[in-house]
Amino acid sequence: MARIHVCSESDLPDGEAIKIDSPLSPIAVIRSGGDLYAVTDRCSHGNASMSEGYIEDDGTVECPLHAARFCLKTGAALCQPATDPLSTYPVVVEEGAIYVELP
Ligand code: FES
Repeated sequence: MARIHVCSESDLPDGEAIKIDSPLSPIAVIRSGGDLYAVTDRCSHGNASMSEGYIEDDGTVECPLHAARFCLKTGAALCQPATDPLSTYPVVVEEGAIYVELP
């Protein structure tokens, strides 16, 4: 399993997102309601970046292009027009640094 360093924990405040590159695809690392999540950055419906989406404090993000909402924990699409989920990745915090683990 590969691990990618994202940033210092203090550099990702609640309601914010950071886009990182990975060998799989770009990933959006998002803090919502105090919790950290990592999902595929590209919306499952079209060419939009979830790291530029509207982050709610209930663990969801809204696509900035057509307003589909996704559960950050499961990646599930919660409303149209998206129907396919986003991939999700484990997030680990160690010694004040955030990492995303890849399969
Ligand atoms: Fe995200 Fe259409 S591109 S809902």
